Amino acid sequence: MKANKTKAYIPALKYHWMTRFYYPLIQWGMQEKKLKMHLVHQAALQPDEVVMDLACGTGTLALFLQHSQAGVHVIGVDADPEILAIAKKKRKENQVDHIRFEEGFSDRLPFSNHLFHHVFTSLFIHHLSLEKKKETFEEVHRTLKSGGQFHILDFDNPQNGLMRVAFLPVQFLDGFETTSPHVKGIIPNLLKETGFAAIEETGKFSTIVGTLRAYRAFKP
Ligand SMILES: C[S@@+](CC[C@H](N)C(=O)[O-])C[C@H]1O[C@@H](n2cnc3c(N)ncnc32)[C@H](O)[C@@H]1O
Repeated sequence: MKANKTKAYIPALKYHWMTRFYYPLIQWGMQEKKLKMHLVHQAALQPDEVVMDLACGTGTLALFLQHSQAGVHVIGVDADPEILAIAKKKRKENQVDHIRFEEGFSDRLPFSNHLFHHVFTSLFIHHLSLEKKKETFEEVHRTLKSGGQFHILDFDNPQNGLMRVAFLPVQFLDGFETTSPHVKGIIPNLLKETGFAAIEETGKFSTIVGTLRAYRAFKP
């Protein structure tokens, strides 16, 4: 685990007071279930596997993962205690007590090496500076088992002019520094630089706020 990093993060909708609106917004505005189930299906989870939902937000993907395969061990991690409180409430409502939610930063994950069979992350990497994106990918690589898989859903490489314009509101909200590398399509290169192999784009989706792409990569 790394130490002495800045304790800074961007909440789901930039401002803490907007966090309560995040879940309804992506649930109804972005076909959340279809997009997240795409990631779940590409993993083909097996019982007893240990999986992380990195920057889990309100825990929707963690719940989908737990429901998709009995016997998997799901751990959701997020830097924001306020959004984790919403995730824990949803866990209780859905009666899946065994999902663990932990507070933690993506660039110093509170886990030992080679722990996870799969790490998932959705709508998160575009929140990070280039340096933090790299450190986060290194941490995912460190905590995955050999042969483990990294599954990403995020804004990347708008597929046409309309999708490029649609992405502008996200850039205004989340910041141009963190989001601009995604206009060029940075994720496959970052995966390669970190040492991931068999990098594959598994899907692309047009949304009201730009193109989302899904990727899968393996730790050799
Ligand atoms: C846009 S939300 C996405 C939440 C969820 N993954 C989803 O798909 O709905 C981004 C999340 O990243 C979290 N976050 C931001 N910076 C972080 C960091 N450095 N480490 C861990 N979580 C972070 C925020 O608290 C927020 O919950």
